[in-house]
Amino acid sequence: MMVEDGFDVRIANHPDKVKLKHLLEQNNLPVDDIETLDLQHFFGAQSTDTLLGVAGMEPYGSDALVRSLSVRADAQGQGIATALLKHLEQHAVSLGVQQTYLLTETADRFFIRHGYTIVPRATAPAGIQQSSQFSVLCPASAIFMHKALAS
Ligand SMILES: CC(C)(COP(=O)(O)OP(=O)(O)OC[C@H]1O[C@@H](n2cnc3c(N)ncnc32)[C@H](O)[C@@H]1OP(=O)(O)O)[C@@H](O)C(=O)NCCC(=O)NCCS
Repeated sequence: MMVEDGFDVRIANHPDKVKLKHLLEQNNLPVDDIETLDLQHFFGAQSTDTLLGVAGMEPYGSDALVRSLSVRADAQGQGIATALLKHLEQHAVSLGVQQTYLLTETADRFFIRHGYTIVPRATAPAGIQQSSQFSVLCPASAIFMHKALAS
């Protein structure tokens, strides 16, 4: 993809773990469990060797938790998060995921624009409830959202 100022941005999985953690920390997103996660389900938007944005997913059978959507402050507003989310959802569909869920404290309006709706936390499937994002890392006040993916 191209972004506004002409940089060529490439999306690929397995982003560099150190850069990933740094980008999440910059946007105050949880990093405590990153070491234990399969970065096969994490995608980075990269321009040359600079990581501009990331998005990740934890699959639980036909459900998945979307997480860690984060774009560098100086690269926001250029469609990078939109492209990452689209990429992630395509990856989810390729794994047989039908329902995606997420927790957010700040970006609910962004996700509503991309087809997510706010649902009660109690409606989360068991796999999602057991994720550390859900049970430990994200505060109880975080907004819980759902989207049914078209297969
Ligand atoms: C939310 C975030 C990922 C969006 O990244 P981005 O690359 O700027 O998003 P895009 O360029 O694809 O989309 C931008 C559009 O979404 C809107 N948008 C961006 N952040 C938004 C937010 N928090 N709430 C509502 N709308 C938002 C912009 O106004 C813009 O609208 P426009 O297309 O009408 O101009 C980025 O702001 C970010 O990293 N925030 C901090 C971390 C965070 O809250 N992540 C979500 C946790 S799950």
